[in-house]
Amino acid sequence: MDYISSASSDEFLVADFASGEYDRVPTFFVDILPRMLSNRPNRTIVYCTDIHALRLDSLMGKLEESGMLDNVRVVRAKLEEMDTNATLRPDMLAYLDERPSRMTALDHHLRLKEFYPAKTFDVGVLNNDIVGYLHEYYTEYSDAQKGLEKVYSVLKSGAILVVTMPCSLYVVDNIQVIESLGFMFVEGIDIKLSDGSIRHLERSADPRIMSRLGHYTFLIFVRE
Ligand SMILES: C[S@@+](CC[C@H](N)C(=O)[O-])C[C@H]1O[C@@H](n2cnc3c(N)ncnc32)[C@H](O)[C@@H]1O
Repeated sequence: MDYISSASSDEFLVADFASGEYDRVPTFFVDILPRMLSNRPNRTIVYCTDIHALRLDSLMGKLEESGMLDNVRVVRAKLEEMDTNATLRPDMLAYLDERPSRMTALDHHLRLKEFYPAKTFDVGVLNNDIVGYLHEYYTEYSDAQKGLEKVYSVLKSGAILVVTMPCSLYVVDNIQVIESLGFMFVEGIDIKLSDGSIRHLERSADPRIMSRLGHYTFLIFVRE
């Protein structure tokens, strides 16, 4: 909240990497968080990126129903290649065509050049065990290391990376993996949902204690 409140740019850009068809991240940044902040950026726009076109189209349907499309974009890209190939979904382009005044500089860039430029986003989110998920599919269709390197490169210097529910399915040492890319671990929080009690996680925390049943865990990093 401190980081977002102190943002200087008019347009605050959030990247939801490997979003699937889930609207939790855009709903949080576009709808919930602004109501919690007294000092907020003029506009927050969330770019949901996934390799799976049908999931993105389903996400777009949900966003349309909830009236959030003005501030959310669905972009098809493989994380490993998003700095050379990232395309707004056709329905998204049609939506923006009808509302040119709502287009951001990044929308114009994506439409013309079809890739994410380096150092673009203020916040990145890997929601719901994405690091583990990428490693599980490593040999099949994802190169986790390369994909995460690209996550690093499209975030601005000083941007925040939020990693939620690490190790909920696959135990991978998220802190070690993400720090090795050049991020700095800032804090980890584990919330016990039954009573809301909070446990702070150290940098050396055992990955096996993260995201246990009945808990919500997240980690925050800063891009150098
Ligand atoms: C568990 S699902 C979606 C998780 C979602 N972030 C959430 O909040 O629930 C994982 C997603 O990762 C996407 N994915 C896997 N490998 C990818 C890659 N290399 N590039 C882009 N997306 C990828 C899949 O298409 C899938 O939609």
